[in-house]
Amino acid sequence: MINEPKQPVDLKTALSTFEALWSPRIVTRVNDYDVRIAKVAGEHVWHVHENTDEFFLVLEGELRIALREPGPGGERTVVLPRGSVFVVPRGVEHKPSSAEGASIMMFEPTGTPTVGDRHDPVPGHIDATTGHALGS
Ligand code: NI
Repeated sequence: MINEPKQPVDLKTALSTFEALWSPRIVTRVNDYDVRIAKVAGEHVWHVHENTDEFFLVLEGELRIALREPGPGGERTVVLPRGSVFVVPRGVEHKPSSAEGASIMMFEPTGTPTVGDRHDPVPGHIDATTGHALGS
């Protein structure tokens, strides 16, 4: 289980404790939400969270999120430079990616799978998880 931190968590230090890509660590919790950080590079997988929005904050680098939205617009990609936030609404298929690599923070309900409730076949470089404890 998650240890509630008794001290502030320095994100730079927390990010230095792991190298795995697309494999979020839980740095703390807010009510019934995880605050997760992840290192990412290359492409994630198309997936959808049917029952929850997903919040992204880019800490380092640049993140792109491809979205499949209803209506004539169809597919588009949002670009999030460092310091940007974006929320993927529930029910919207999305695929994060980062050509150069990035570090990101996400807020989502505890237990939310990284690959959503529906997804394309999960490639080997993607960790299908509900998040790992920091230090694991
Ligand atoms: Ni997602």
